[in-house]
Amino acid sequence: MKKGRFIVLEGIDGSGTTTHSNKLADYLKSKNYEVIVTQEPSEGPIGKTIRDYLFHGWGSPAVHALLFAADRVEHTEKVIKPLLERGVIVISDRYIESSIVYQTAEGLDTCWIEEINKFIVEPDLTIYLDVDPEVALDRKKGMRDTFERVEFLKKVRRIYLERAKDKDYPIMNTNRPIEVVHKEIVRCVESYLSR
Ligand code: TYD
Repeated sequence: MKKGRFIVLEGIDGSGTTTHSNKLADYLKSKNYEVIVTQEPSEGPIGKTIRDYLFHGWGSPAVHALLFAADRVEHTEKVIKPLLERGVIVISDRYIESSIVYQTAEGLDTCWIEEINKFIVEPDLTIYLDVDPEVALDRKKGMRDTFERVEFLKKVRRIYLERAKDKDYPIMNTNRPIEVVHKEIVRCVESYLSR
């Protein structure tokens, strides 16, 4: 039986999902909530394999989709579900929307991606962080992996925006300073928690 809340932050590479997941967790902890931040690709063995694949440019779109789905099953069973059962607020830096958006941007079919991800826990709140891909890549200095190319990220952003509008996910403009965005995320989460 699920008692906690499951919040997911989504967005293209460089949109700030990691920064804002951590800042949101710190804020909620200061309000005495029990909060854990987690992420995908996960810290488990499949997550590590995925990072190798992306770093070296290995694998086809279908291989990526299957690896991400397998990682998500483990992450969900071993980390997310037990925490939610304990009543914890779980904040995940990426979850199912990343697969639907990135892997359809790689040319795969949404229905198949949903099918191989049918063991997920539905997030209670998904927040989409929207940023200009050029700004995003500028923030990510240094090595770039498989998905960190401007044309690809433009496509990923377009799909994220379409899905966020369709599914009514709150959209945060993260071209703005971190503190401004953080306050907006806090308002959104507080309003959800008080419902
Ligand atoms: P990212 O959040 O950038 O990880 P890191 O901690 O290394 O910065 O995620 C790695 C990449 O994987 C990113 O480009 C998004 C992509 N991705 C997918 O394509 N599908 C998925 O299901 C997930 C979770 C991530």
